[in-house]
Amino acid sequence: PQYENIKIEVVGEKKNVGLIQLHRPKALNALCKPLFKELGKAVKDFDADKAIAAIIITGNEKAFAAGADIKEMQNNTYSSNTRDGFLQEWEDVSNCGKPVIAAVNGFALGGGCELAMLCDIIYAGENAKFGQPEINIGTIPGAGGTQRLPRYVGKSKAMEIVLTGNFFGAQEAEKMGLVSKVFPVDKLLEETIKLAERIGTHSPLIVKMAKQSVNQAYETTLKTGLQFEKSLFYGTFATGDRQEGMNAFIEKRTPAFKND
Ligand code: HXC
Repeated sequence: PQYENIKIEVVGEKKNVGLIQLHRPKALNALCKPLFKELGKAVKDFDADKAIAAIIITGNEKAFAAGADIKEMQNNTYSSNTRDGFLQEWEDVSNCGKPVIAAVNGFALGGGCELAMLCDIIYAGENAKFGQPEINIGTIPGAGGTQRLPRYVGKSKAMEIVLTGNFFGAQEAEKMGLVSKVFPVDKLLEETIKLAERIGTHSPLIVKMAKQSVNQAYETTLKTGLQFEKSLFYGTFATGDRQEGMNAFIEKRTPAFKND
């Protein structure tokens, strides 16, 4: 497909990593509706593509994304938001069954920070700047900033970030657990591809179950979550890949997973 606001590419030694680059550099990748429609479509297509093991969303060195497009929403009304389902395209990314990794250099603000938090893992470049600055422009986060952020970094940090609108850097983001690793700016993408490739050595079927199970931790009580996990764990024993994985270990060889 032809895209105007993103670029897509298949990368990695085995060509099994779907790379999506947000590409509105003049607007610091502000997340306008056409961009989000394209992003949703690209994620869905990679999710459906059997050759793809994991998906990376990235921006450029200056910006991952500086937020929802303020120019686009400047004259929105409550009625228009409700009638048109403003931001509803965002569901496509969170519904992806395959791992989605954010590689963040530069600004990840407002909706940009929320987009990164929709992803399963965040890797950041040393120049990354995160924040939920909606409060500066008279609104509040609308795509997870008040919900995902406290779950990931705790209440005091989340409140401080949302109520001040202040930006924070990659090191601080790593310290608070928002980001799992920080790299030099020019190494970020290759390290993120390595991560995706490492995930890609495993059974795609089992990876999907593992992702589902971790995500359940954010949806439910501990007891229900543990039950969910146990069912999926038992479920892995109904797959060929579980048998293959254990056979390969015992036979001291590399497993040949069949996604089955
Ligand atoms: C539309 C944006 C934009 C945005 C930057 N631009 N952010 N356009 N929406 N969110 C545009 C600028 O208007 C400008 O275009 C160009 O990108 C370069 O930006 P500058 O401001 O000139 O760059 P700089 O001085 O380097 O400052 C960078 C910045 C600043 C600190 C990131 O741009 C900024 O504060 N942006 C807004 C960040 C923000 O408030 N984000 C939250 C949005 S609300 P022109 O044409 O003027 O040169 C939100 C709601 C979430 O995300 C709800 C759920 C999704």
